[in-house]
Amino acid sequence: MMVNKLQSYHIITFGCQMNEYDSEVMAGLLEQMGYQAAPRPEDADIVLVNTCCVRQSAENKILGLIGRLRKYKKARPHMVIGIGGCMTQQKETAQKLKERFPHLDFIFGTHNVHELPDLINQSLTKKKRLLAWHPESAGIPEGLPVKRNSGIKAWVPIMLGCNNFCTYCIVPYVRGRERSRRPEQIVQEVRNLISQGYKEVTLLGQNVNSYGQDLDSGINFAGLLRLLAEETNIPRLRFVTSHPKDFSPELIEVMKTYPAICEHIHLPVQAGSNKVLQEMNRKYSREYYLALAEKIYREIPGVAITTDIMVGFPGETEEDFAQTMDIVRKVRFANAYMFVYNPRRGTPAAERSDQVPDEIKVERIKQLVETQNRITLELNQAEVGRVHEVLVEGTSKSNPGVLSGHTRTNKTVLLEGQHIAPGQIIQIKITRGTLTYLEGKPVAGF
Ligand code: SAH
Ligand code: SF4
Ligand code: F3S
Repeated sequence: MMVNKLQSYHIITFGCQMNEYDSEVMAGLLEQMGYQAAPRPEDADIVLVNTCCVRQSAENKILGLIGRLRKYKKARPHMVIGIGGCMTQQKETAQKLKERFPHLDFIFGTHNVHELPDLINQSLTKKKRLLAWHPESAGIPEGLPVKRNSGIKAWVPIMLGCNNFCTYCIVPYVRGRERSRRPEQIVQEVRNLISQGYKEVTLLGQNVNSYGQDLDSGINFAGLLRLLAEETNIPRLRFVTSHPKDFSPELIEVMKTYPAICEHIHLPVQAGSNKVLQEMNRKYSREYYLALAEKIYREIPGVAITTDIMVGFPGETEEDFAQTMDIVRKVRFANAYMFVYNPRRGTPAAERSDQVPDEIKVERIKQLVETQNRITLELNQAEVGRVHEVLVEGTSKSNPGVLSGHTRTNKTVLLEGQHIAPGQIIQIKITRGTLTYLEGKPVAGF
């Protein structure tokens, strides 16, 4: 291995859990090369930015950050800056960034993460600016080192890419087609995590419910969960994201059968009007979604359903929006990520001439957030007095000094004044519920 004069790295991550995981792989590769993590980008010798392009707001933040990095590099001229992820998987964007920002040393797409050591070595030795970009993945790179942020909870991707092409969404264009990892690889990774002391695994995919369709082994997502529950003794198992169209009765059965599988389903509804759902290419109706949510609530006691919702999709009328508000009130989601529709270049919805004016979008998101927040608060307040199984994860980010963890339903619980070792799974009685977290105390005997 090459002896580096450089010592430390810092990675800044935008976007979803898949990106967080990719950053953990980047960190793993850098540590394997001998670099150490630096807490601040301005002190690092290598700075990587892992980008997201799902909405303009993410792109704007990233452009601002790239500007700041120029200053850091002025103060530390040997700094090497690399930028990767979904934004740079758009070839035009990657080329524009390269032209516009000479302080970026290398740019790489989502299918080039494993080439990072080579990119860094080339930047250091050849002093040439590089662009590493492939239109499609050459398969799933297995066996890459992963430096995880937590020692208690781990992300495990089970599939990459997306085949759904929702008409508003850029993800299929920047993540490629669906590729499922082989079940043996996933089981092995989970076993390794258990032996390292991990207590919870979250299986990742843009649409985990279509897992296995591209494999020859006949396994589906319910089968994978069954396999993991039977062949490993992982204490807690979660998964995101579930596309409603592929959510099977078999999956509900598996969730009921195995105690390791947590009672939380992230089930993005996106909209409540059949016209909008159809134009989004979501392939389900509001009636289907309502019936599915009702079945989930009925069959899995105590389950929490969370969601993603969008307002202001092109052509969305007052009546369409009223249908979204109606579905939100009917399902009573435990929590929701709520977005204003934002046109993404290259997607069909962005081409439409009937874009909703900004003032209307702003008014609708305000109403939606108000209603959903009221529901979330009501549901959290109703938790007071109930007992939940909580995985204690460490001190709270927003409240240092206070222990925090999550219920099986994925609600944050703060444990004020308690001394419990992180990694423990304990029974907690809820004493208070707010919009964003619960508070609780261990039940007697713990
Ligand atoms: N694969 C997941 C997540 C995709 S991105 C899924 O299918 O649910 C996360 C969320 O961002 C989406 O669920 C959607 O609500 C939102 N989103 C995607 N494209 C968007 C756009 N163009 N404008 C606003 N929100 C968008
Ligand atoms: Fe985007 Fe739809 Fe795929 Fe989710 S399922 S990543 S929203 S195209
Ligand atoms: Fe963003 Fe890419 Fe995830 S666009 S939401 S980081 S898949």
